[in-house]
Amino acid sequence: MKILVIGASGRVGIDLVKQLLADDHQVIGTTRQEEKLFNDDNYSQLDLDITAEKDAIQQQIDADIDAVYFVAGSGGTDVLEVDLHGAVKTMQAVEDKGIKRYIMLSTVFSLDTSKWDHPGIADLKEYYICKHYADQWLVHNSALDYTIVQAGALKERTGTGKITINDDNAGENSIEDVATTLAAVLNASNTTKKVFSMHNGETTITDAIAKL
Ligand SMILES: NC(=O)c1ccc[n+]([C@@H]2O[C@H](COP(=O)([O-])OP(=O)(O)OC[C@H]3O[C@@H](n4cnc5c(N)ncnc54)[C@H](OP(=O)(O)O)[C@@H]3O)[C@@H](O)[C@H]2O)c1
Repeated sequence: MKILVIGASGRVGIDLVKQLLADDHQVIGTTRQEEKLFNDDNYSQLDLDITAEKDAIQQQIDADIDAVYFVAGSGGTDVLEVDLHGAVKTMQAVEDKGIKRYIMLSTVFSLDTSKWDHPGIADLKEYYICKHYADQWLVHNSALDYTIVQAGALKERTGTGKITINDDNAGENSIEDVATTLAAVLNASNTTKKVFSMHNGETTITDAIAKL
């Protein structure tokens, strides 16, 4: 498949592109950095700034892309411009291009405001508001074949290959396992129009996704 990864230079993005290339996909990764991230014949790079106008973003996206991943993020500054407005503009641009599949990396409890008083979330209120409405847009205002993966805290630790989905704990994730889960979602037709939370746990990623 031909896949666009928005945020390819990020911690998740790098691992995700690696896995998609290993799965023999053709990957277009976005970054505003000049340096090419991967030396692989199946990898090409796009200098995309999602704070640009929606039409400018749309012009940079090839119409023959099969699936789009959004793993970009502001890191806490510019949450409105990047995590909300930037994300929604990519959804609109992708949809207007005629592309259907859109896989969003979001954050645990993004759509459940009753959980926002949890320690660790309360301090990130503005970020959570932005992810909430971006996810709401994807579900209710787009016709995209979305999957929203709501990950608990991202940790730079070795992958375990095992996760728990949709329980009441926020939990923590190896970044590698989040990337593996995102890559697995692409091959699982039962993930379309689904939202699920994840953290490292007891079930193999394939089995956890199959049960969705
Ligand atoms: N941290 C957590 O514990 C946690 C938990 C759950 C979910 N998440 C979500 O996971 C996302 C990815 O995390 P991460 O640690 O991999 O992020 P990261 O390392 O900070 O990478 C951020 C990515 O976003 C891109 N980006 C930032 N501003 C942009 C802009 N204006 N236009 C285009 N691209 C832009 C960066 O690209 P450039 O190369 O162009 O700078 C980079 O590829 C987070 O943003 C967050 O929403 C995080």
